[in-house]
Amino acid sequence: MIEATPADVQKAFQDLSRDMNPEFVHIFLDKLERYAKKPDRALFLVEYQESIIAFATIIDKSPLPETFTPQALHDINYYACGTGLMVLEEYRRQGVASLLVAAWERWTKEHNIQGLWVITRKMGNWYQTNFHFELLGNANLKGVKKSVLSKTFQP
Ligand SMILES: CC(C)(COP(=O)(O)OP(=O)(O)OC[C@H]1O[C@@H](n2cnc3c(N)ncnc32)[C@H](O)[C@@H]1OP(=O)(O)O)[C@@H](O)C(=O)NCCC(=O)NCCS
Repeated sequence: MIEATPADVQKAFQDLSRDMNPEFVHIFLDKLERYAKKPDRALFLVEYQESIIAFATIIDKSPLPETFTPQALHDINYYACGTGLMVLEEYRRQGVASLLVAAWERWTKEHNIQGLWVITRKMGNWYQTNFHFELLGNANLKGVKKSVLSKTFQP
């Protein structure tokens, strides 16, 4: 597990963008660069046999989607936000994402932030079942329904 610096970005981009829609690769590169560089956020990379096989990003504050309709809103405005998590297909189901979620949690606690939130289209149940996130409600982003989930840490 690496907390990336800008020097790690080019290799991460090459290894991880392999199967990505070419329309989105420049957005992905821009995201990796920003998360590796800025002090309010982090880019985590998992390396295996000299290849980068997975990544996750986190930021200390991110605005909630305007269409978010919370059923139970904790003060997640002050929570860190996990903004990306992906494991290359052939390395899935081996615990790699669990390492990255643990890195999110560690980073959040190290920054004295009380909790973590994520927004996801399909993986809401997965965050609840495997990582004890709580479903807060839904947001509609450009016609796509997404779930907002959070996890609070003890002070
Ligand atoms: C979702 C994703 C990150 C999981 O990565 P992974 O490395 O396979 O996850 P792990 O191996 O750490 O799995 C953790 C647990 O979730 C389970 N799990 C993994 N993928 C699952 C899936 N698609 N559906 C249900 N359960 C799943 C595992 O069995 C494991 O449970 P266990 O400990 O009881 O065996 C990966 O499939 C992925 O990159 N998907 C595409 C992008 C995505 O959906 N990102 C996350 C949401 S925004």
